[in-house]
Amino acid sequence: MSDLLRPRASLRTAVVWEVLKDALERRGKAAGRDALDVLDTGGGTGNFAVPVARLGHRVTVVDPSPNALFALERRAAEAGVADRVRGVQGDARGLFDVVERGGYDTVLCHGVLEYVDDPAEGVRNAVDALRPAGTLSLLAAGLGGAVLARALAGHFTEARRALTDPAGRWGEGDPMPRRFTADQLTDLVSATGLQVGSVHGVRIFADLVPGVLVDTEPGAVDALLKLEAAAAEQPAFHSVATQLHVLAERD
Ligand SMILES: C[S@@+](CC[C@H](N)C(=O)[O-])C[C@H]1O[C@@H](n2cnc3c(N)ncnc32)[C@H](O)[C@@H]1O
Repeated sequence: MSDLLRPRASLRTAVVWEVLKDALERRGKAAGRDALDVLDTGGGTGNFAVPVARLGHRVTVVDPSPNALFALERRAAEAGVADRVRGVQGDARGLFDVVERGGYDTVLCHGVLEYVDDPAEGVRNAVDALRPAGTLSLLAAGLGGAVLARALAGHFTEARRALTDPAGRWGEGDPMPRRFTADQLTDLVSATGLQVGSVHGVRIFADLVPGVLVDTEPGAVDALLKLEAAAAEQPAFHSVATQLHVLAERD
């Protein structure tokens, strides 16, 4: 079963997946084609690439990790979409050493900007990979969600440090190199000339709720998914989301 279809795992991805699925459908209609060319930069093991290929699209995954690309290949084969998923070793900075500039209908950049040296360059390259009409799907770690999570865990000094640190890190032990506010992400996208279509907060509640409440209460996963979906688009909740998703289009 794909991760996106597992109820517990879907709490992490449902909001992004719904927005992305709609965007692909719109892009397909606008392009007059069922199968789109999709680039997943930093696509890893294919959490999104494989489900996107299952919709019938051709997906190129660029990732620096050979292990991730190996897992991607196996996962695509298991899902029966090996012919529509191509893994290429490369990174966001040298994107055009390995893929065509202006060659894609949709570019995914999910969970990558946190790790690159220059996020502005990362977004610019993702946008430059788009055809003249194209869609960018950008997902990155949110600052406020981390501050809230550290505070609720009783780590008040770390919470304050994240709040004041330019990269949004709570300390030396923080595994996340960088976090963003919604304004920072939309500014990065707007600077490329793309029009921001929507911003969604992702995992607003899911990471804060004790697992036992979700796993043992009948219907809890479903109810939490509906709550996440309802809050995702409300700007008030963007400032406390674990991740932020920005959809941007050029028509
Ligand atoms: C958190 S994972 C996200 C994977 C996938 N996009 C997803 O949403 O499930 C981060 C991925 O970014 C890749 N990565 C790290 N540095 C990168 C870089 N400079 N350029 C492109 N990808 C990078 C890692 O190898 C890893 O697969």
